[in-house]
Amino acid sequence: MKIFWQYPLLISIFTIWGSTESTRWPLNFLSDSDPQQVRISLAGKNQVLVSWITSDKNVESVVVYGKVSGKYDNSSVGQSSSYQYLTYNSGEIHQVKIGPLEPGTLYYYRCGGATPEFSFRTPPSVFPVEFAVVGDLGQTEWTKSTLQHVGAMPYDVFLLPGDLSYADTEQPLWDSFGTLVEPLASSRPWMVTQGNHEIETIPVLHSQSFTAYNARWLMPYQESQSTSNLYYSFDVSGVHVIMLGSYTDFEVGSDQYTWLQADLKGVDRTKTPWILVLLHAPWYNSNLAHQGEGESMRKTMENMLFRERVDMVLAGHVHAYERFTRVYDNNANECGPVYVTIGDGGNREGLATTFESPSPSISLYREASFGHGRLRVLNSSHAHWTWRRNNDTTVADEMWLKSLSSSDSCNGSA
Ligand SMILES: [Fe+2]
Repeated sequence: MKIFWQYPLLISIFTIWGSTESTRWPLNFLSDSDPQQVRISLAGKNQVLVSWITSDKNVESVVVYGKVSGKYDNSSVGQSSSYQYLTYNSGEIHQVKIGPLEPGTLYYYRCGGATPEFSFRTPPSVFPVEFAVVGDLGQTEWTKSTLQHVGAMPYDVFLLPGDLSYADTEQPLWDSFGTLVEPLASSRPWMVTQGNHEIETIPVLHSQSFTAYNARWLMPYQESQSTSNLYYSFDVSGVHVIMLGSYTDFEVGSDQYTWLQADLKGVDRTKTPWILVLLHAPWYNSNLAHQGEGESMRKTMENMLFRERVDMVLAGHVHAYERFTRVYDNNANECGPVYVTIGDGGNREGLATTFESPSPSISLYREASFGHGRLRVLNSSHAHWTWRRNNDTTVADEMWLKSLSSSDSCNGSA
């Protein structure tokens, strides 16, 4: 399987799967100036960042867009960059912010003014809003299956808690990953944080970490007063989402710690009653894989999340699904976040099949299957979480959540 995915031509052929809005054929016949690896992400209030790559370095970073197919009333100009990794030179990576955009609206757009036309829908401004959540995605047949399941049902925003391409220093795999996810990532915002597979340092030869990730997956860190692309936050329809970095400094007094403190303090629960946190290495985990790897971060930051009544913490890294009850400091606590591990996207390393026995009382559901999660936030007080495995379409695990901001007892004891 690993060898298979290293051949771009085969990747192109086998990634023409029946998704929705942006499939192109034949991918290998694109000209140097044609947009490749097109995707969008949220970039501040009513704005979206459009990103794509061209082989031609001289293509202008411009996006034309509008609400009617083929009729583009607006245009925005951005910037482009490239990076070098050992002998690999990336294509030109274009980043263009467009907006202001209307919520819950379908927009049509072209990158660089060239064909084809893509389209995306902006998230709603009010509840309900639905998130699709997948960690440790990779680019295998299981990845393809996961993305097919995600694309089969409507959602507003895609959340990925780290480990994207599994390029692991083989830079062309970042390009094949960008091509693989384009049908979904060009039609709904993809918001990601980084995992260990994004670090990509090589002793002596390449000492800088996250080179490809930071160059390719620009997230709205400046828009959220962060100084690093490795941690940031954003608001969607009454939900404040915080993306943390498991592999950058997080100790007390570090930039990330200080930023998180300020970000949490700045949340207005009357405007965003819900708070979600995503990170890569789980703080709670009863799988034998990666035991204890999130522990020092948990010890440093858990009390902040608990104090500010974060509703849910979603992690990846462990290649399985696990849902915990509300937890604080290793004990069930009705005012703590619900912890979920969802590192089951389809990576090439396989599943983490062995769990601790007996199961700890705070772990409510665990299964080593590839799949994806969904959080449908219905209103300011209630949300529904579901997890589906790829082998069938039924809901394998689900729960109702009541927002902690609507809990009198938790707010009274804050
Ligand atoms: Fe990982």
